[in-house]
Amino acid sequence: MRKHIVAGNWKMNNNLAQTQDLITALKHQNISSDAEVMIAPSFTNLYSAFETLKDHPVEVIAQNMHFAEHGAYTGEVSASMLESVGVKTVILGHSERRAYFGETDDILAKKVDAAFAANLRVIFCFGEELADRKSGNEESVVASQIKNALFHLDASAFKNIVLAYEPVWAIGTGETASPEQAQDMHKFIRKTLNDKYGEDVADQMSILYGGSVKPNNAKEIFSKPDVDGGLIGGAALNADDFFAIVNAF
Ligand code: G3P
Repeated sequence: MRKHIVAGNWKMNNNLAQTQDLITALKHQNISSDAEVMIAPSFTNLYSAFETLKDHPVEVIAQNMHFAEHGAYTGEVSASMLESVGVKTVILGHSERRAYFGETDDILAKKVDAAFAANLRVIFCFGEELADRKSGNEESVVASQIKNALFHLDASAFKNIVLAYEPVWAIGTGETASPEQAQDMHKFIRKTLNDKYGEDVADQMSILYGGSVKPNNAKEIFSKPDVDGGLIGGAALNADDFFAIVNAF
C-alpha cells in the first residue's frame, strides 16, 4: 500500500514568531486521514520547529540543501547540518530552485546522492512549463527531469524517494491542473518508473501533486488512483486550510 503524504512547503514565509504561531495552530488540528503530514519551514526556523513538534505526528522537513558535505559555500546548508537539527526529509528540485537558482538535473543528481549519504529521504520535484504543455511536450520534459536526476540510482534507493509532480504553470497561480491532467501525468510517471525498475518500485512510489491545491479541490485530486497526496504552498500557511487538505483523503 502506497503512503498518502501531504507536505506543506512554506517557502520564504514566516519569521520565528510567525512560525511558532502557525505551529501552535497546527498542533490544535486533528489528523483524521491516513496521511503522513509534513511541514517545511525556512532554514532559520527548522530547529525551533523540530523541537516544538518532536513529539507530534507532523514531521518537520527542509526545503533544500547543498550537495557538498561542507566548505566554502557561503549561505548554503549541508545535509549533515539538516540531519543535526533532526530533519530526516528534504525537498529537492523545486521549480523555484531550478528557475531562480539555476539548479540543473546534474546538480540535482548530486543533491540526491548527498541526501542519501546523510540518510535523508528526498521529496523530488519536477514539472513542465506552460509552453511545454501547450506544445504537447509535457511528458518528455517530465521524463527527462526524472531520468537525468534519478535514473543513476539502484532500485533500492527509491524506497527513500517521494516524487512530486508540480506543473510550473499551476504553482501559485490558482490555475490548478484538473484531476484528470494530474492522473494522466502521475500514471505516465509510474509507467516510466516501471519500465526502468519494474513493478515493485513503481507500485510503491508515492507520487504527490503540487500546484494550487486548495481545500475545495483537494478531495477530487486525491481521489485519483495514481495521486498519493500533495505538496502544498500557499494553503499550507493557514492551519485550517492545510488540515482541510490533509483530511481530504
Ligand atoms: O511546493 C509546493 C508549491 O510549489 C505549490 O504552491 O501555492 O500553488 O500550492 P501553491
